[in-house]
Amino acid sequence: MRAASLLALGCYAAIASADVVDDAESAATEATSSVESVVESVTSSAVNKPTFTPTTFKAPFLEQFTDSLDGSRWKASHAKKENTEEEWQFVGTWDVEEPTVLRGVEGDKGLVLKDKAAHHAISAKFDKPITNKDDTLVVQYEVKLQGGLECGGAYMKLLQDNKKLQSDEFSNASPYIIMFGPDKCGSTNKVHFIFRHKNPKTGEYEEKHLKSPPSARITKQTTLYTLIVRPDQSFEIKIDGESSKNGTLLEDFSPAVNPPKEIDDPKDSKPEDWVDTPTMPDPDATKPDDWDEDAPYEIVDESAEKPADWLEDEPTMIPDPEAEKPEDWDDEEDGDWVPPMVPNPKCDEVSGCGPWEKPMMKNPEYKGKWSAPMIDNPDYKGPWAPRKIANPDYYEDKTPANFEPMGAIGFELWTMQNDILFDNIYIGHSEKDADAFQKETFAPKKASEKAVEDAEKPKQEDAPKSPDDLVFMDDPVLYIKEKFNLFVEIAKRDPVEAAKFVPEIAGGLAVGAVTLLIILVGAIGGGAKAAPSKEQVNAKTQQAKDQAQKTKDQVADAVTSGTDKAKEEVNKRSTRSGAQ
Ligand SMILES: *[C@@H]1O[C@H](CO)[C@@H](O)[C@H](O)[C@H]1NC(C)=O
Repeated sequence: MRAASLLALGCYAAIASADVVDDAESAATEATSSVESVVESVTSSAVNKPTFTPTTFKAPFLEQFTDSLDGSRWKASHAKKENTEEEWQFVGTWDVEEPTVLRGVEGDKGLVLKDKAAHHAISAKFDKPITNKDDTLVVQYEVKLQGGLECGGAYMKLLQDNKKLQSDEFSNASPYIIMFGPDKCGSTNKVHFIFRHKNPKTGEYEEKHLKSPPSARITKQTTLYTLIVRPDQSFEIKIDGESSKNGTLLEDFSPAVNPPKEIDDPKDSKPEDWVDTPTMPDPDATKPDDWDEDAPYEIVDESAEKPADWLEDEPTMIPDPEAEKPEDWDDEEDGDWVPPMVPNPKCDEVSGCGPWEKPMMKNPEYKGKWSAPMIDNPDYKGPWAPRKIANPDYYEDKTPANFEPMGAIGFELWTMQNDILFDNIYIGHSEKDADAFQKETFAPKKASEKAVEDAEKPKQEDAPKSPDDLVFMDDPVLYIKEKFNLFVEIAKRDPVEAAKFVPEIAGGLAVGAVTLLIILVGAIGGGAKAAPSKEQVNAKTQQAKDQAQKTKDQVADAVTSGTDKAKEEVNKRSTRSGAQ
């Protein structure tokens, strides 16, 4: 019965013109996504979340993004495009706001990169330059990929301190000292650690890249990235507070910090008479007299005999006995009709048909071309290598970890996915403080985000259920989404049927949704009516959009009361099991 009515409803949909359906669909999609965001925010508020309190930690640079960008130390770049006067190169916008995805801490804001596929640049000057000469440097910050990350960077740069350091002019060309953090595009995924090193002989800077960087975590939960550089030239990268990579600035970077002491002499070349082939054919060996180079590889097997059942007089192919001349065949025009040839069925049952020949076999006398056996070459001198000379460009910097003074922090990024959020930046000299700071800020946030994600995630054992079998309290979010989607699908075709089909939809939702959907279905044409004009559709779509807002509020109420009911139910259950 259900299948039959769905079929009938499908026919209604087929009458509606594609245009109109598109408009109505987009309004419905909008309504659905409002429902999803409300469901998410209501459910996530059901998780008991910590509330943000500013830290009392102090560091040379510490940022929790408690204020709006206006009037803060952060300045978006207004660097001009090359060779133009007016256009900004970095049109991407920034804001300070709370996350909208998996929010872990109430009132906890971060710096958010707002625009897709745009160049973004923002920086903040340090109160005074940060140096780490003979001291530890710790760089730590949180990254939250609210829209995932398919292709883009989320790394930071510590900028070289110089008089010209102007936030307004911050760009990809601004000299930096350290670049650290995630960068992903397709299958390339790394946590960059690059430092710019000054060649003490030439004064030129060169980027030194970590040779095998760890991978960034691509998750909508917050990820914490920590870089520690110690005075003994070692470094460590931690992700979410766990050690992910150890190494030293002297050994694990490319190109190496220090050039080789000796290099190949460019003037040296291999002498003409240098022998570098280790073996040679034995010059004393001769071909044995009985070695017949001309003996063929294969010969006829003279011992073979024709199998007894071989049918020498039967052809292998015969005219198809079942073929018939087509009725419209015209001998005059088409020529004589010849039946097609088919394999002779008589040959299938025996060893073979037709003239028999003795088969070929491998020639036991075959030896092939003679060649002298190989012996060690008495003149062999080994592989040739040019002479080594002292490297004229040699220097040795034993302390590349003594970075030059850093004057600012900057994010200069392009990314396909927007809404990347940065928070809790620590730049200082204490591993202990950085760790205590993350335990105070990051650890509870991560735990809370996990709880929110778990609350939103359909439980594994419930996943295969059809929308009909869903129980609200098993998974409120999935319940509402599934019921609502089902409802939208059916109601687009027949609102009355839809109301019978999905009677409750968590109480209040139905009232708003039915109104919305009746409007939508009105726009589609609802069956017998003639297709409406474009103007009618536009008006109806606007009406539907307005209704979507109202529905959103009603859904919020419905979900909240549903969540409360669910909580009550859980309480009842635990009381009952406690009493047993
Ligand atoms: C790095 O070194 C520290 C200290 O020795 C150690 O605890 C940590 O496990 C190491 N990390 C890795 C990834 O090997």
